[in-house]
Amino acid sequence: MHIAILHNLDADYLEEDPGREAREDVKKVAVALANALDRGTMRASVLPVSEPADLLAALEHSHPDLVINLCESLAADSRGEMAIPLMLDLLGVPYSGSPALALCLALHKHKAKEVLFARGVPTPTFAVVERMDDLAGLDLPFPLIVKPSREDASVGVDFDSVVSTRAQLERATRAVLTRFRQPALVERYIDGPEIYVPLLGNRGAVRAHLPLTEIRFGPAFAGRPRIVSYRAKWEADSAECKDSPAVPCTLGARDQERLRAVATAAFDALECQDYGRVDLRLGADGAAYVIDVNPNCDLHPEAGFARAAAEAGITYRALAVRLVEIALERSYGNTPTRRTGPAAARRAAVANRNLLAGRGHLRAGAHRSRASAE
Ligand SMILES: Nc1ncnc2c1ncn2[C@@H]1O[C@H](COP(=O)(O)OP(=O)(O)O)[C@@H](O)[C@H]1O
Ligand SMILES: [Mg+2]
Repeated sequence: MHIAILHNLDADYLEEDPGREAREDVKKVAVALANALDRGTMRASVLPVSEPADLLAALEHSHPDLVINLCESLAADSRGEMAIPLMLDLLGVPYSGSPALALCLALHKHKAKEVLFARGVPTPTFAVVERMDDLAGLDLPFPLIVKPSREDASVGVDFDSVVSTRAQLERATRAVLTRFRQPALVERYIDGPEIYVPLLGNRGAVRAHLPLTEIRFGPAFAGRPRIVSYRAKWEADSAECKDSPAVPCTLGARDQERLRAVATAAFDALECQDYGRVDLRLGADGAAYVIDVNPNCDLHPEAGFARAAAEAGITYRALAVRLVEIALERSYGNTPTRRTGPAAARRAAVANRNLLAGRGHLRAGAHRSRASAE
């Protein structure tokens, strides 16, 4: 069985990339997963992708049985993330990780929030600001947080993102509009604990019971907003980073179950697959608000997801194998019915191909007859 681990290689793509550190890290994850999987009959290779054409060329060359898709962007544009599973679906190559729709929704935070609201999953009320004039009609109570509507990994989030006055709101919004050239998401700031719920497994199947973590904000946050800013997440030497470790969640078992249920509802509402992490904040009203759904969360051996798995007794190698099994099961059906051997199917059954599902079986030679008619 050949597993190809795809990752984006675009950290040096832009002269000034506000998300460079986040982009650089993914390569290390790909190497760690390849080392964990490349044993026995399983061969794992790492395929870096900078631009769309790279993906097609790499797949044509390597014919993997399964792709583990770690790509978070293409050509340093986060919107490229969703293009990868879309192309894999069209090519009929099974992959681990969420489909294009989930990645698209998770990246367009305001659209994800609309789906969550529609499903009754709690998330802070919000407004989308496309130009400064939109602020005139904004009717939300302070404090608020202003973030780019289409980024990830805390890109564009710092202490100034949390605002309590009209002047601060204008400044933070202008910063997002000009620096990131995308709408700003303005939402209610939830001042309570920040809790992460890792999810592993397919809908309808038994999901792994992974422990929840919470961020412990230390003295560096005295008198400042307790948020995981870009610096806190990526600049290891900063006081913010050192003072915001993820620690085991201290809530009682019943509360943790409640949070897990909210997180699972959010994960399923956005049609995420296989694995991911849902981030929640607890409000003063006791409600658990979804602030971020991460279908493509960090799978580095030292990062939160793998650490949570380790606490549940799942080693990094076992986690890597589990990711493969979950994706194979979803793509090919139960393991005993999966075809094996040198000619093992590289195409997911039609019913499992997201794009073609529900359109019935392809007529034999359909694509050939269309080609000859042209
Ligand atoms: N509504 C909110 N209330 C309180 N803190 C928030 C809120 N939204 C974001 N944050 C803080 O900002 C961080 C980054 O925001 P998030 O929405 O997770 O963006 P990203 O997708 O870039 O990770 C969060 O981890 C949290 O600490
Ligand atoms: Mg986040």
